[in-house]
Amino acid sequence: MAFLFLLFLLSSLYLIYLRVSRYHQKKLGLPPGSLGLPFLGETLQLISAYKTEHPEPFIDARVRKYGTVFTTHVFGEPTVFCTDPESNRFVLQNEGKLFESSYPSSISNLLGRHSLLLMKGNLHKRMHSLTMSFANSSIIRDHLLPDIDRLVRFNMDGWDGRRVRLQDETKKITFELTVKQLMSFDPGEWTESLRKEYLLLIEGFFSIPLPFLFTTYGRALKARTKVAEALRSMVRERKEEKEMGGERKNDMLEALLEGEERFEEEEMVDFLLALLVAGYETTSTIMTLAVKFLTESPRALSLLKEEHEGIRAKKPESEALQWSDYKSMPFTQCVINETLRVANIISGVFRRAVSDVTDVHIKGYTIPKGWKVFASFRAVHLDQDHYKDARTFNPWRWQNNPPHAGPLSIFTPFGGGPRLCPGYELARVEISVFLHHFVTGFTWVPAEEDKLVFFPTTRTLKRYPIDVKRRKRV
Ligand code: HEM
Ligand SMILES: *[C@@H]1O[C@H](CO)[C@@H](O)[C@H](O)[C@H]1NC(C)=O
Ligand SMILES: *[C@@H]1O[C@H](CO)[C@@H](O)[C@H](O)[C@H]1NC(C)=O
Repeated sequence: MAFLFLLFLLSSLYLIYLRVSRYHQKKLGLPPGSLGLPFLGETLQLISAYKTEHPEPFIDARVRKYGTVFTTHVFGEPTVFCTDPESNRFVLQNEGKLFESSYPSSISNLLGRHSLLLMKGNLHKRMHSLTMSFANSSIIRDHLLPDIDRLVRFNMDGWDGRRVRLQDETKKITFELTVKQLMSFDPGEWTESLRKEYLLLIEGFFSIPLPFLFTTYGRALKARTKVAEALRSMVRERKEEKEMGGERKNDMLEALLEGEERFEEEEMVDFLLALLVAGYETTSTIMTLAVKFLTESPRALSLLKEEHEGIRAKKPESEALQWSDYKSMPFTQCVINETLRVANIISGVFRRAVSDVTDVHIKGYTIPKGWKVFASFRAVHLDQDHYKDARTFNPWRWQNNPPHAGPLSIFTPFGGGPRLCPGYELARVEISVFLHHFVTGFTWVPAEEDKLVFFPTTRTLKRYPIDVKRRKRV
């Protein structure tokens, strides 16, 4: 009886809460939507949708009911979801003016204060452009490509006759590539022990942030200290080398040391660490999923093979890919775009409305200062109005009539505006070189059924195990 009474009381309170919040929503001109349960909001619905292969219903259902800009309540806060190209563009372009990127403190503690992702204002502007020029196409062509080619092959050398978990192997590849690009270290014991700590650090990003030693997050914090120590001693060594008149290296660290700004060691360490994080899950996941989608689409795979065998036929087996080779892989670029479209690991970005002067307006709605906004790229990329048969993998769609043509870019796998991914070209080159050596060098079959999920990140549940055999190059 007492229980029934309690239940009655709670549900009445809840109904009152709903009415009050609806009333406020209307009065303030907030985007329509439901705030769900107190405290939890709609977090559980979001998580259960993204734990499946098709998370779209979460957004679809709300768009149908409320329109493309709606309010929900996830991860502890009311959040406005934007799911159309105009609103997303508005959010991206107004970064630093009406919006600021926003990460929970559990994440910023792992990244470090001085990482590019957390910088703001003018410092962010300068460091963003430094990072862009470090990975621009002429630098990739002249300096980074030979190492990418060499390290990708080196990693694949041991794959013949083995069962590999492709997701693990591509992570190893991207880690080694980044270490090389940032500080000119070749794979070896140092890199491998750094990587062990680094793996613990990465797990922290997707864990519940309880800072005790025995939790995943606690271990991640400890690992962060170790990774930072390793990077710090490496920075120190380089500084000494430079003072002794050592030769100039072509890497990110050199750019930091040579720049006009004088950075503290701590700043350089945070900066490098964040770059190591930013390119890692993203690039390796796209490599893995491109292979998975190609495996499931034999026609696309055979066309891709043809393209790469054509390139290989013109050069000796041991010769590295040149920039001109990269530039003659049109179908590969279609495959990469299509993989980014249907399964990008960054499904959108969180921002916070910061305008001091006024509230922010999107599509006639008001977003109060301090509120969270999520610009969902995935919602646009999988919208049937923008892409025909949007929910199937079809690389050919990029061939004739690029769907992103027109004044408004609707394809934003790398974001846009002041925080456009500085690694967008580098990632493309790495994925292309990887696909080249993989399809010309090997045949493979999936070793187990595997499933794609989108929470806590885009990944396959079993890390995509495949049986790999070396094939004769043609
Ligand atoms: C397929 C691979 C990749 C994807 C899909 C991707 C995607 C993105 C996206 C969407 C953003 C914007 C985040 C925001 O607006 O808040 C971003 C930012 C960033 N990315 Fe990438 N990225 C990839 C690879 C890389 C690589 C290889 C690097 C290494 C140089 C990198 C470095 C960064 C950095 C440093 C930022 C932060 C920029 C800033 O806040 O100013 N990314 N990336
Ligand atoms: C790339 O950056 C370098 C400096 O790091 C600069 O000299 C060069 O002009 C840039 N190239 C392009 C294509 O932007
Ligand atoms: C792939 O997408 C990019 C935008 O990220 C675009 O510039 C490029 O033209 C697209 N490639 C193809 C082959 O459509």
